Amino acid sequence: MTIGIPRRQALAEALRSAGGDPARARVFRAPGRINLLGEHTDYNHGFVLPAAIDLDVAIAAVAESGVFLAVSAQMEGQAVFDPESPRLSGDSWGSYLQGVAWSLSQYTGRVGGIRAGVHSTVPVGSGLSSSAALEVATGLALSLLAGHAVAKEALAAACLRAERQWVGVNCGPMDQWASVFGQRDSVILLDCRTMDIETVHLPEGLCLAVVDSGTPRTLAEGGYNRRRSECEQAARLLGVPALRDVGEADIGELPEPLLRRARHVVRENARVMEGVNALRAGDTGLLGELIDASHESLRADFEVSTPELDAAAAACRTCPGVLGARMVGGGFGGSVMAVAWADAVDALPERMERLGFSGLRVVRASEGAGEVVGGLEGLEGGDPPLGCR
Ligand code: GLA
Repeated sequence: MTIGIPRRQALAEALRSAGGDPARARVFRAPGRINLLGEHTDYNHGFVLPAAIDLDVAIAAVAESGVFLAVSAQMEGQAVFDPESPRLSGDSWGSYLQGVAWSLSQYTGRVGGIRAGVHSTVPVGSGLSSSAALEVATGLALSLLAGHAVAKEALAAACLRAERQWVGVNCGPMDQWASVFGQRDSVILLDCRTMDIETVHLPEGLCLAVVDSGTPRTLAEGGYNRRRSECEQAARLLGVPALRDVGEADIGELPEPLLRRARHVVRENARVMEGVNALRAGDTGLLGELIDASHESLRADFEVSTPELDAAAAACRTCPGVLGARMVGGGFGGSVMAVAWADAVDALPERMERLGFSGLRVVRASEGAGEVVGGLEGLEGGDPPLGCR
């Protein structure tokens, strides 16, 4: 991987603007994620199969008691507040940092302060979970600089609580868990009821690519919360704690649109388990079919796709070497993910460009969040390299 001098410098400058000394900085990074299978299953206590990716949020920070001041190298404004009593202040990027400070203080009793520079390579609004990456990197910086390392589960849970109770998106645990627990060249099978995790290796030669559909995500959060309450209503009508607890034979009496919502969840959970078996058996053809079927179910039954996402997924599927493609994340905009063979991947960006979709990039399944050894000097980055398993 190339050493990203520009990124390092951008972070150092942001930290300097926040009043911190880059020479003393420690650096924390947390990745975004893709998701092979299992969309809108996490808040139904179901199964997901995400991977952390090599696009991440990096925070260079120094400890300073009683202060929270962060400057982004890319976004306007500052996040500045009293870490002992963070207050809600609009919907800027700073609210994610405040939410995490608030949430961690509920857990640890108090949080220390920091001065920080922030830099992200996760595109915002692309369905690759830039917000969870920002939350997890903040949580790591706050807790490790205050000298109380929190357990991985507690970190992920604190970030999830920030997203739900502070930012107000009633999301499931997938994004924060993927960012914390990701493993290189692997996906993680997360049971969103027990929170048990199994690592599943990706077959050699398989690549993951993402392309932004370009759809604005303006109504995303309202739509997301609405889908969640439809699922909860369906579970209530069926007399079960969550849609995880039903099979296809149980849902036939549900009224529309709850029937289709429940059908998506039931079938998507099954697809996750089939996908894990396919990966373990090296059956990449089946994996591709499951990915395509997931997109169709999200489009027709769960109704969270858009014409632009449908078009991008269809375009990916026409490219040689692509095994399957589908929208990724909450939907209503964002990105499409394609799974492709390594020997075909070099030709993909240009081919997709000719089909009207620019900016396709190959991402690599990567390690979850952590401190960067060597601080700013140890930071890798810049333009993410072409990476395949
Ligand atoms: C968003 C949420 C996740 C998950 C996905 C859909 O990314 O943050 O919890 O529900 O949508 O699978």
